[in-house]
Amino acid sequence: MGLFAFGQNKPDFSIIFPPAAYLLRGFCRISGNGRFAGIMYNSAPDTYQQRSLDELRPTIEAHRARLGRKLVILTHHYQRKEVVRLGDFVGDSYYLARCAAEERQAEYIVFCGVHFMAEAARILCRPEQRVFLPNLYAGCPMADMAPMDAVIDAWEEIGGKDTIPISYMNSAAALKAFVGDHGGLICTSSNAEKAFTWGFQRGKRVFFFPDENLGYNTAHAMGISDEEIIVHNPADLSRKQQLTERTRVVLWKGHCHVHTNFRPEHIAHLRWRFPGIKIVVHPECLPEVVQQADAVGSTSFIVKYVDQLPAGAKIAIGTELNLVSRLADDHPDKTVVELSGQSCSLCINMFRTTLADLAYTLDCLGQTNEIHVEPQIKRSAYLALERMLELH
Ligand code: 13P
Ligand code: SF4
Repeated sequence: MGLFAFGQNKPDFSIIFPPAAYLLRGFCRISGNGRFAGIMYNSAPDTYQQRSLDELRPTIEAHRARLGRKLVILTHHYQRKEVVRLGDFVGDSYYLARCAAEERQAEYIVFCGVHFMAEAARILCRPEQRVFLPNLYAGCPMADMAPMDAVIDAWEEIGGKDTIPISYMNSAAALKAFVGDHGGLICTSSNAEKAFTWGFQRGKRVFFFPDENLGYNTAHAMGISDEEIIVHNPADLSRKQQLTERTRVVLWKGHCHVHTNFRPEHIAHLRWRFPGIKIVVHPECLPEVVQQADAVGSTSFIVKYVDQLPAGAKIAIGTELNLVSRLADDHPDKTVVELSGQSCSLCINMFRTTLADLAYTLDCLGQTNEIHVEPQIKRSAYLALERMLELH
């Protein structure tokens, strides 16, 4: 399979990875009542799924015009192009959390992203505001790698007054609440280093979950050595207590299945194929990939990085396919390619939200797909998120 250069070709999933194209067609259909049907996970009913994008767009535009500033549509960088184009704001998870905290006049916040992002918006916005996730099946497998009971067990093993818990934004609200209650904070890919520094000002070590790679890459960038880092694997029942006086960082053994597909061989291949190419990757990638890249940063960082390169530049990006594809469209004067040259970098959870889901959520606004967080969890999680917002 050849390299797929988005700057020259429009993405066609059947070219990139035929089995994925088959699956994705499946994802675009649904059983009548919106429940699971085999591999089909959409939330809007059939009548919406059958409408074309050209039919759905005016429906969404009409709701936007009718509701004006009462409605805010937030879209993450990994959303489908047609969804991003109808949003009020597009950004990384930090920026969108800020928008949710600051868009105080909106009555309805519709979050086109994944579940933990909409939950964070729910926690940060005013109680009278209401938050919706157009496709409730859009989760994050990495966030699910740190279940509450396993984190409590680990905390009993390695926590304590010298340890500051830091949770990645990609985590459930209950986990954020746990962090808030134990004197810790939340971070995103755009402020992990600041969060670690905050932690080291208050304790001897930080306990970071659920992304081992973001945690390791952050610690490494701060000059923390491998001897000062341990990895907690909740699935290893024979594990022994490894914490020593030297331990400064405890990492949870979790990962993103999208970003861990990128390999150093992909970088070597592209540097050979396109001399002078710039490689920019997300910090959820493996350390051996991050260490060979020219630049590393959040999704918004990647967008800015591509923007500031001159016409004619060649750039390979180690992050989710929909963002790479959009960047290629936005920069026809540059060659923008996906780092692996295959289709592994699709986040099917981000991809689940379709214009049909958005139109359905707006047609039934207030009656479906609302996100709720229990008041007690909300209070504690708010503390942890507020500490993060104060970092910037
Ligand atoms: P960003 O915070 O960089 O947008 O990343 C979120 C995410 O889920 C990356 O996989
Ligand atoms: Fe989760 Fe990875 Fe998808 Fe981001 S790209 S939402 S970390 S599965």
